[in-house]
Amino acid sequence: MKALIAAGGHATRLRPITLTINKHLIPLANKPMIFHAIEKIANAGISEIGININPGEIEIRQVVGNGSRWGVQITFIEQQGGPLGVAHIVKNAQSFLGEDDFVFYLGDNIILGSINSFVDKFRNERPNCMLALSKVRDPQRFGVPEMCDGRIVRVDEKPQAPKSNFAVTGIYIYDRNYFKAFEHIVPSGRGEYEISDIHTWLIQNGFNVGYQEITGWWKDTGKSEDLLEGNQLLLAEMTREEAVVEGEVDPEAIVHGRVKIGQGTVIKGRCLIRGPVTIGENCVIENSYIGPYTSLGNGVRVIGSEIEHSVVFDNVNIHCSKRVVDALIGKNVELASAAANMPVGHRLVIGDNSRVEL
Ligand code: DAU
Repeated sequence: MKALIAAGGHATRLRPITLTINKHLIPLANKPMIFHAIEKIANAGISEIGININPGEIEIRQVVGNGSRWGVQITFIEQQGGPLGVAHIVKNAQSFLGEDDFVFYLGDNIILGSINSFVDKFRNERPNCMLALSKVRDPQRFGVPEMCDGRIVRVDEKPQAPKSNFAVTGIYIYDRNYFKAFEHIVPSGRGEYEISDIHTWLIQNGFNVGYQEITGWWKDTGKSEDLLEGNQLLLAEMTREEAVVEGEVDPEAIVHGRVKIGQGTVIKGRCLIRGPVTIGENCVIENSYIGPYTSLGNGVRVIGSEIEHSVVFDNVNIHCSKRVVDALIGKNVELASAAANMPVGHRLVIGDNSRVEL
């Protein structure tokens, strides 16, 4: 069995963050999002992985490398013609996939736990396609199955009137009949080859489409709130063994719970760090509070400030003497204090499409 990970697309809903970083490289629990997908696949014993990227994309190639760090072999596949739809990603990778069965994993999906039981179910039951379903409150955002007597009878993409409260998540397994189905679908109203049309075609043409419900946590990280929730859940999953302290912690500082502190990081003065928290390498935290579910990247400085439930990218400088919550802060940002300046007020330099709550 092979695997294909989707890591192209437009990511317009996550702007402005995605103007300077590929969505799939956004750090969650201090790891690029796509690493979580690669880990799950490698863990399921699959060693040949294709990664779909937009034409000309180099950042993902550089950050991911050849896969040796996970003991797998990674092939990058440029999506010819650009992001023409989720179903097109697989068609575009046909020469890599050949005749083999394959897991197709949307690289912006985050799940807790492993995909091993899903892969085992496919291997035992041998359907032509296996879908992972998850109960959601807002099925209109997803592919939605219509169920009858415990079987899926069709799948609608982002329906206004969903026929069930399940989403078809972005983790699928197929056999080579996928390519037969692709020959019969056409772009949807929004101009994309829809994966839901593949599923409906397979069902309506006598192929066996099975499913498994994901009862644990699953998230499609389409919006910034989803990223914070994803980060929270991944940090909650961090084990005591992973919470290694490699930096220096001042005896005055209090560190509670599972806190990972990278090499070269210094925790100085009166600090309280309440896990689960992960702090990258070469950071300085001084007289500050770092609260639960916070990930700080490398080279971050937090001086005389408080932050919790937030994702902070590399080289951010926070010395605003305020409490920052539920924040997603991109690279090289400075949060400063205006207390000593005249006139009193908030001074902002904010890029297009940002959101600030004061
Ligand atoms: O997350 C589950 C949902 O994913 C399913 O319920 C939907 O049926 C499925 O169509 C998909 O919907 P999204 O609207 O979330 O798809 P999105 O455009 O966000 O793309 C999903 C991933 O695939 C993302 O990592 C970007 C990548 N992508 C997307 C397109 C359209 C590509 O690599 N190439 C593409 O052409």
